[in-house]
Amino acid sequence: MCCTSQKKPGVQGWLLDFLMKPLRKLRIKLINQAEGQVLEIGVGTGLNFELYTEKVEKVVGIEPDTKLLPRAHKRAEEINIPVEIHTIGAENMPFEDDSFDTIVVTWVLCTIPDVEGALAEMKRVLKPGGKLLWIEHTRSRHGLIRRIQDLFNPLWKPLAGGCHLNREPLEFLEQAGFITSGHRARTSERWNLLPIYQGISQESQAPTEDEMGTSAVS
Ligand SMILES: C[S@@+](CC[C@H](N)C(=O)[O-])C[C@H]1O[C@@H](n2cnc3c(N)ncnc32)[C@H](O)[C@@H]1O
Repeated sequence: MCCTSQKKPGVQGWLLDFLMKPLRKLRIKLINQAEGQVLEIGVGTGLNFELYTEKVEKVVGIEPDTKLLPRAHKRAEEINIPVEIHTIGAENMPFEDDSFDTIVVTWVLCTIPDVEGALAEMKRVLKPGGKLLWIEHTRSRHGLIRRIQDLFNPLWKPLAGGCHLNREPLEFLEQAGFITSGHRARTSERWNLLPIYQGISQESQAPTEDEMGTSAVS
């Protein structure tokens, strides 16, 4: 089931499968934590679908690149959980406020053109107390590697379907008002241009009157 279609730079489905399939092991534990109504951002060829457990009631996926959809739809049909895929980007989603228990983002924040706008939308549609599960490659913690990432980024981006080598997902999440727990490295940082981290982020709650010390005293 698709909404409006958008043309975006991207890669062919077979190539994305070839590049992303070896990362299966890194996905399993994260995707196993999804529950309830799930929104998956940038489903690609649908490699996460088989990893959703019976805790998931429904998966609503979005993917702007129509070249990837035939593989995604095929994988959606192979699982026992209802999957609905919309051909849209994350920057403007047609979903009600507070409608998802879990949002899943795997190697997508590096590519979304307006990542701030997309995260604001994710915050809007995530239920209070809901979880945003993410796994992303990040900016290196090592100065030399950071400089190499910056240097190669302009070459890398057009070759890798708009992916940025040097984005820092944690900073974007924090600026969007998410707090992150369980943040951990999944690969070594040593001489690695694509260090991978995962985390679970939740909407940071505004402090209550009690926490602020401003509640009325009778
Ligand atoms: C590296 S692929 C990852 C695909 C999939 N999440 C996975 O783990 O295999 C990046 C994905 O982000 C998608 N993407 C790019 N711009 C997007 C946007 N504005 N909103 C949502 N997804 C987007 C791409 O089309 C692509 O499918």
